[in-house]
Amino acid sequence: MRLLILEHSLHDAELMFLELKGAGLVFEHVLAEDQEQFREALRQGHFDVVLSDYRLPGWTGLDALKELRAIDKDLPFLLVTGTLGEEAAVECVKQGVSDYVLKDHISRLPAALKRAIHEKNLRKRAEEALRLSELRNHDLVENSVYGIFRVAADSSFLDANPALLRILGCASFEQLSSLNLVRDVFRFPEQHAQLSASCRELGQVHGAEAEWRRRDGGVVAVRLNLRCLQLAGQLDCMEVIAEDVTELRAMERQLRQAQKFEAIGQLAGGIAHDFNNVVGAILGWAELGLEQNCANPQVAERFARIREQGERAATLTRELLAFARRQILQPRAVDLNTVVGGVASFLDKVISKDIELKVITAPLDPIKADPTQIEQVLMNLSINARDAMTGGGRLILETEMVELDDSYCRFYPHVTPGRYAVLSVSDTGVGMGTDTRERIFEPFFTTKERDKGSGMGLATVYGIVKQHGGLIHVYSELGQGSLFRVYLPVMEGNMEGGFSGHAPVASTAEMRGTEMILLADDHESMREMARQTLVGLGYRVLSACNGEDALRLCETDTPAMAVLDVIMPKLGGAATAAKLAERFAGLPVLFTSGYSQDSEGVAAAIANSRYLQKPYSPTALGRMVREILDGAAKTATS
Ligand SMILES: Nc1ncnc2c1ncn2[C@@H]1O[C@H](COP(=O)(O)OP(=O)(O)OP(=O)(O)O)[C@@H](O)[C@H]1O
Ligand SMILES: [Mg+2]
Repeated sequence: MRLLILEHSLHDAELMFLELKGAGLVFEHVLAEDQEQFREALRQGHFDVVLSDYRLPGWTGLDALKELRAIDKDLPFLLVTGTLGEEAAVECVKQGVSDYVLKDHISRLPAALKRAIHEKNLRKRAEEALRLSELRNHDLVENSVYGIFRVAADSSFLDANPALLRILGCASFEQLSSLNLVRDVFRFPEQHAQLSASCRELGQVHGAEAEWRRRDGGVVAVRLNLRCLQLAGQLDCMEVIAEDVTELRAMERQLRQAQKFEAIGQLAGGIAHDFNNVVGAILGWAELGLEQNCANPQVAERFARIREQGERAATLTRELLAFARRQILQPRAVDLNTVVGGVASFLDKVISKDIELKVITAPLDPIKADPTQIEQVLMNLSINARDAMTGGGRLILETEMVELDDSYCRFYPHVTPGRYAVLSVSDTGVGMGTDTRERIFEPFFTTKERDKGSGMGLATVYGIVKQHGGLIHVYSELGQGSLFRVYLPVMEGNMEGGFSGHAPVASTAEMRGTEMILLADDHESMREMARQTLVGLGYRVLSACNGEDALRLCETDTPAMAVLDVIMPKLGGAATAAKLAERFAGLPVLFTSGYSQDSEGVAAAIANSRYLQKPYSPTALGRMVREILDGAAKTATS
C-alpha cells in the first residue's frame, strides 16, 4: 500500500506511522510538508490513500482535497487533525472527504483507513457492474431489428439505433438528425398528432400502425410503441420502438384476397352447378316448344325469347363456373403467341378506328393450357381496355418469358418459382383508383351502366388464370391507363405436338445493375411499381413524387440516370431535366408519359433522352434502363 502523507509536523507523522505499523499494516509512504511538495508527489507517484492534516501553513487540508479531486475523483482522502470545527467538518464531507480522525484518537486511524479502502473497492466493483450492464443494454439496442429512438417535444431526433436508419433509408445519424419526425417521416402528419395526443394522455401507446416515408421516396408500414418521458433538460420527449411491417401487411392483404375469392368461389360454384341443370332443362323445353309450334309464329316467338334468355343465363353460369375454377379444361401444348395473333386479328374488327392496336411478341416456351380459355382471358382484358378508351388511345398486347425466382416468391407465398410465359395487356384509358382496383376481380363488380357490363369479365379471367396455375397482376391509376399482366407457367418436359428448346427469358440477369437511378412520378402506384421493379433488379433508387422533390433528393446523391414523368405538379419532367443537366452534365433521361403526342416531342427536344409510353411493363422499363445506361457507358469510354 502506498500512502501520501500531508503533514508539516514530523512528530505527528511519526505517531501515525507507529499506529499503522502497530495494527500490522505494511506500507510505503511519501511525506509532503507543503503545497508544493504535495503537488510534486501527486505528479510523480501513484497512491492508494492520502492522509492529510487540516491546518497547514498558509493552506488547509480542504484546499488539498479540492486539488486532489480535480485530478482523481476516487482516491480515499482522510483528514487527520487536531481539532475540526463543526462547520469545517460539514464542508469536508461535502467535498468528498472519506473520513476524519482526530489526533487525540489516533488509534482509530488503522480502522478508518481500512474502511476507506474497502469502500473504494466496493465502489469500483459497482461501477464495473454498471458499465457492463450499460454495455449489454447498448448492445441490445444497437443490434435490435426494431427501430428505437427518442424525439424532443419539437419532434427533432435526440438519438436512434442503426435499425431506424435502415428502416428510413438514412445513411448516417447526421442525416437523420436533419429530419423532423412530423414533417419528414410521417406520411400523414395528422396520424402523428393523434398518436402523440393519446401518448400524452395515457403515458404510452402500444401497437399503433402508421406509414412512414423513406429517404429514397418509398413508403414503409410500421407498427409503433410510444412512451412519454422527461429527460434532463428536455420536457415532453417521446421514446418510440418501430417495427417494419411492410412485407407482412402486403402478404396479409394477398392472403385475405385469396381467401375471400376462395369463399365466393365455393358459393358461386355451388349455385352455378345446380343452376346449370335448371337452365339446361329450361333450354331443352324451350327448344321443344319452338319446334312444336312452327305453325304458330306467335307462340314460337315466345319460346324463342325464353331460349334467348336461357342462353344468357347459361353464359352467366359458365362464367361463374370459370371463376370458381370448376370448368372442365382441355389442356394441351399452346403457344401463347398464336393465341395472341388470333385474338388480335379479331380485335381489329371490334375496336374503333381511333384505338391503335399494337402487338409485341417474344419467343415463348409452350404452356399447358386450354386455348379457348386463354382466348377468353385475352378477349375479356382487351374488351375492358377498349371500354376504358372511349376517346381513343393505344392498346398493347405483349408477350415475354420471365423466370420467377425464390426471392420473388418470398413476397408472393402462393407462387411457385419457375419459368412463366407472360401476357401483358395495357391501355391508355381512364385507369382506376384504389377502391375500384381492389374489387375488380369480384364477381358482379362493375362500374359500367346496367346492361353494359355484368361484372363477370375479370372474375372469369381470375378463375381461368388460377385454374391454369398462373397469377395476374394489375397496375393502374386514375387517368393513367391500366396494365394487366398474366403469368402462365410453362409446360414441364416436352409434350407431343409441343415444340422443343427453351425460349430465351428476357433474362433478369441482363437487365440487372447497381447504378443509382432517380425516379420521379406523381402517380403513386406507377412509381411504386417502377421503384420495386428497379430495386428488384439491384438498382439503388431515389424515388420522388414531383420534380422539386427529385432535385432535392439529388442534393446528396449523384444519379447515373433519371426516369421522369413528363407531367408532374410543382416541376414537370422537361423542366426537371433541364435543372438536372445543369448539375450533372450528360445525365441520360428517360421520359415516361401516358399522353403520347406532347411527350414524344419533349424527348426529341432534350438531348440525351429517350421516351417510354405509359403504362409500361416492368420488363419494358428494366430493358430500357439497362440499354440507356450501357449506351451512356459506351459514349463515356469512346
Ligand atoms: N382496362 C381497364 N381500365 C379501366 N377500368 C377497368 C379496366 N378493366 C376493368 N376495369 C374496371 O373493372 C370493372 C370490372 O371489370 P369486369 O371485366 O369484371 O366487368 P365489366 O367489364 O364491368 O363487365 P363485363 O366484363 O362482365 O361485361 C369494370 O367495370 C371497370 O370499372
Ligand atoms: Mg369486362
